[in-house]
Amino acid sequence: MRRYVRLFPLLLLLLLSCDRMTSEKVFRKGLVVSSDRIASEVGLDILKQGGNAIDAVCATALSLAVTFPRAGNLGGGGFALIHTSDSQPVSFIDFRETAPGNINPKYYLDDSGKVVRARAIVGPGSAGTPGTVAGLYEMHRKYGQLQWNQVVHPARMLADTGFIVGASLAASLADYSDDLSQFRSTAEIFVKDGRTVQRGERLRQEDLALSLVLIEEKGRDGFYLGETAVKIADFCQAQDGFISLSDLESYQPVWREPVRFNYAGLDIFTAPLPSSGGVVMGQILKILDRYELSKYTALRSEYIHLFTESARLAFADREAYLGDPDFGHDFSKSLLDDAYLTSRTQSIRTDQASASEDVQPGIPDQSRESDNTTHLVVADGAGNVVSLTYTINLNYGSKAVVAGAGFLLNNEMDDFAIAVGQPNAFGLIGGEANKIEPKKRMLSSMTPTIILKANHPYLALGSPGGSKIITAVAQTIINYATFGESLTNAISLPRFHHQWQPDNLFVERAGFPAATLEVLRALGHNVVERDRYSEVMGVSFSEEGSYFSGVADARGSGYVAGY
Ligand code: GLY
Repeated sequence: MRRYVRLFPLLLLLLLSCDRMTSEKVFRKGLVVSSDRIASEVGLDILKQGGNAIDAVCATALSLAVTFPRAGNLGGGGFALIHTSDSQPVSFIDFRETAPGNINPKYYLDDSGKVVRARAIVGPGSAGTPGTVAGLYEMHRKYGQLQWNQVVHPARMLADTGFIVGASLAASLADYSDDLSQFRSTAEIFVKDGRTVQRGERLRQEDLALSLVLIEEKGRDGFYLGETAVKIADFCQAQDGFISLSDLESYQPVWREPVRFNYAGLDIFTAPLPSSGGVVMGQILKILDRYELSKYTALRSEYIHLFTESARLAFADREAYLGDPDFGHDFSKSLLDDAYLTSRTQSIRTDQASASEDVQPGIPDQSRESDNTTHLVVADGAGNVVSLTYTINLNYGSKAVVAGAGFLLNNEMDDFAIAVGQPNAFGLIGGEANKIEPKKRMLSSMTPTIILKANHPYLALGSPGGSKIITAVAQTIINYATFGESLTNAISLPRFHHQWQPDNLFVERAGFPAATLEVLRALGHNVVERDRYSEVMGVSFSEEGSYFSGVADARGSGYVAGY
């Protein structure tokens, strides 16, 4: 048996060395890649009705709130990049949750100042003011083609008439059975007679359908004002939560400039603050662009070592400098500055791993500038592309469904640096820039990305996975653009992750040749094997963007629907 495990990486390499386009079906008119088959098919149907990529992404995201409750949501937030055929190259919308106005940061600490993790991740107290509905509505207002109610209707029908639960949802609900039983309003939907909803059963969600009817009829006001807003505020008030009617009424999504940088001759657009994703991935890729990576492959120790050292430096800066740009100076440009990165790169040795305790955040020019989430990509035949990541943070968020409204609240407050020096659920240590403040957006790692080459779409991708999102997306880009892998291979290849602290090089179990791991250990890396992680969704484009193919990571249950 051990021999087969050792042979696995070699067999994988053999399988992956097929031609770049062999395994992917090509489409010309439209394509939806999401974590769930039913939701992808809803998006495809909207495209077939004459909707554009923006209509389809909204319909898919709303449907995921019904069929993929561990991450699809109305009660969370996210980010989207939009490339349209007739506007500026790529726009970015931030619909991240905000800390409630009357937040009490001490709620998350015990008397000795230690974080009470359960308070940060369970129940309404862990929730920020949701942004998803406002974000989707605003995207649609600006770029949508169909009527808003047409876009919402399929999700409402799925909630109302129900859908047959598949193997993946049934298994996930069973895994979280205890968590989902903690709140009566949650258990009433997902846990019947002491057991979670089973594969093959029909799941109807009447309260969620009612919330969706209000959104369908009244747009964003159907969520942020009136009946649903009152349900959220009352539910929070009754159970140690902070979100108020005024937080909901005043919530606003924000259009921001995306992070834009060049890697391997490609024009990469990705998430700006309050996501750390774009800055951290930008640092990693810009540092790596100084090395001749193309002489390696994805499983070679030399490449993994260089990537790890770059990630270590980038994540050290994440802690020191990144937070909501509306609450302090935004150092993104300085952190991505070529001269600054040259100075940072000097500490990288090819013959030895650094120790994270010796690596400190750098000193950029500060005068110049002030496990779960889900990703979806939609492309249409008119040249529009949307790359959207949204989340309620951990699987099933705060585990608390708003009574009478049928949707889960996020537990995004844990993404703040609740206490300096104490790691959050992803092991990330936050700094002053990411401390809790009323109405502030908590730092994210979501990294929706759109890449253009010669002004045409080249690749659009993203992933769930907390801090691991950033390295998963960066590695997929390198696998595809530098190592010349097909998109299927680029996404399937084993992943590794380093985030400065803890000083571990995480590698997917049974993914890498034993010899590679031996070299990495000899260089001084603390190699730790872990289960497969993240779920990259991607779409690649032909040279002029006229046809495209999509890949849903085989690590998850995603589905590509196209025509
Ligand atoms: N909640 C995970 C993230 O935004 O990075």
